[in-house]
Amino acid sequence: MNFKEEILKLKQELDVTIVAHFYQKDEVFELADIVGDSLELAKKAIATPAKNILFCGVGFMGESVKVLAPNKRVLMPKIACCAMARMIDVEYYEANLKILNEAGISNEDILPITYINSSAAVKAAVGKMGGYVCTSANAFKIIHKGLESGKKIFFVPDRCLGQNFAKQIGLKSAVIGIDDIEDVKSADIICFNGFCSVHQLFTPADIDFFRAKYPEIIVAVHPECDPAVVDKADFVGSTSQLIKYITEDLDIEQKVVVGTEYNMVNRLREKNTYVLSGTKPECPTMNETTVEDLYNTLLSIKNGQFDNEIFVSDDTVKYARMALERMFEVN
Ligand code: 13P
Ligand code: SF4
Repeated sequence: MNFKEEILKLKQELDVTIVAHFYQKDEVFELADIVGDSLELAKKAIATPAKNILFCGVGFMGESVKVLAPNKRVLMPKIACCAMARMIDVEYYEANLKILNEAGISNEDILPITYINSSAAVKAAVGKMGGYVCTSANAFKIIHKGLESGKKIFFVPDRCLGQNFAKQIGLKSAVIGIDDIEDVKSADIICFNGFCSVHQLFTPADIDFFRAKYPEIIVAVHPECDPAVVDKADFVGSTSQLIKYITEDLDIEQKVVVGTEYNMVNRLREKNTYVLSGTKPECPTMNETTVEDLYNTLLSIKNGQFDNEIFVSDDTVKYARMALERMFEVN
């Protein structure tokens, strides 16, 4: 079967918008109506008039759309869970708060911020405490806003994002479970010990290798990379910020090596663009979605079966939405 042709036909027949994150496989990405980073996709997906949103990405992204637009039907060709989002659930979140409480930091002293790469349930737990969601595109602004409260920031689940932005602002960060509890107590930004398994692949030695080979090369990385990598880079940005910088701001003759997911780097430019790793840095969960899955999900809409529909409980919607909307207000 020619899945592409069948998908194009079904798209015309059905009340559906297909959205895809930049990390999706090329053949899926090119069939989407809307593409973008996690923040853009949440905003654009809820603004589309279509009743059905077919989300090609990872689970927390589909959940965010459902939380922001509960009346829409959100379906995912694959309910693939981001490895980082899977590192924290509400129990772990609360267990970390308990560690802080036992160290003398009460919940009233803490303002939680969760990276959008977390479940709706974790976002709701953060929302209940008056906290915010952030993405890599707006983390700097949201952390600044959070600091206005005069409280310590409890940043979950990505320790690297928390450490990198703390450094950028000139503040002290510490990671629960890695750093000494005295360091945690004196930190302005206290981080949960989560990380992205894909962005952990990039090392300072990779940067040294490319700089030795091409002395003029520019190094651009995502802030999910380890602080040791971010420190050595020339540019740090979210997926959309990396795309803008590399495709609009850099001359096409300027060599650039990029530390983020392979599918996105591979379609950035025709030449002078390298991936910052000897190992192909593919996100396994983003890569789970195939055109066949896309076709099957569209067919399920046509047949009224609605495969892989995303459901979020009313209580979770209520509090997760508070945390997401606080982010939009700042942004
Ligand atoms: P963006 O918010 O930049 O789209 O990144 C999401 C992500 O999962 C990066 O690994
Ligand atoms: Fe999650 Fe990392 Fe994949 Fe992004 S690249 S979706 S953070 S596992």
